Amino acid sequence: MASRPDAPPAPGTAADLAIAVTSLHEGNLQALKLMNGIIFPVKYSDQVYKDCMQFPHITALAYHQDTLVGAIMGRLEVRKGQDGSSNCVSPGGARLYIASLGVLAPYRGYKVGSQLLMHSLAGAAEDPMVKEAVVHMHVANEDGQRFYERHGFKVTETIPNYYRFLDPPDALVLVRPLR
Ligand SMILES: CC(C)(COP(=O)(O)OP(=O)(O)OC[C@H]1O[C@@H](n2cnc3c(N)ncnc32)[C@H](O)[C@@H]1OP(=O)(O)O)[C@@H](O)C(=O)NCCC(=O)NCCS
Repeated sequence: MASRPDAPPAPGTAADLAIAVTSLHEGNLQALKLMNGIIFPVKYSDQVYKDCMQFPHITALAYHQDTLVGAIMGRLEVRKGQDGSSNCVSPGGARLYIASLGVLAPYRGYKVGSQLLMHSLAGAAEDPMVKEAVVHMHVANEDGQRFYERHGFKVTETIPNYYRFLDPPDALVLVRPLR
């Protein structure tokens, strides 16, 4: 029986799912917020969306046949403060901070997440100052951790009480060098 044209392929039959990648803008912002609300147990603030929208080569939405199926939100963070204070793991450099990466459940396992991550890593690596990519992850998210480790990320620390509304509330920090 043929699949509906807008249905995801049956599990186990697909190679990479064909996606079109689009930057975040005011026109698709609400759709992204709605989708992230379905995928994630935490709510991202309007400020996170606004910040990530400033990086159209990094923050990206994936559409399969005009259906929004996944997205990555990221921003570049640079060393700040004349006193040497920094939110950057590599002093003097900059980093790609991945605020979110999510794919709707029926579309998982078809490399949409991998394609989005590669898109953002490549966009960030265009800037020679960007030395690494960083993501925070809930400690209980074993699938997410495995996904990032398969893409070259390594756990560098655990931050206690990072997610106030999750149980347990701790976060892992995963880092991948970009050059
Ligand atoms: C993590 C996540 C973005 C990965 O997206 P994805 O499109 O499934 O990613 P990929 O298809 O590229 O890779 C998923 C891996 O899981 C495997 N997989 C198979 N079926 C799967 C399924 N139903 N669901 C998830 N993963 C599946 C894939 O084979 C693949 O393994 P491989 O790299 O060894 O081939 C997605 O699972 C997700 O949105 N999770 C919930 C949100 C989350 O935890 N995000 C990460 C923290 S920000």
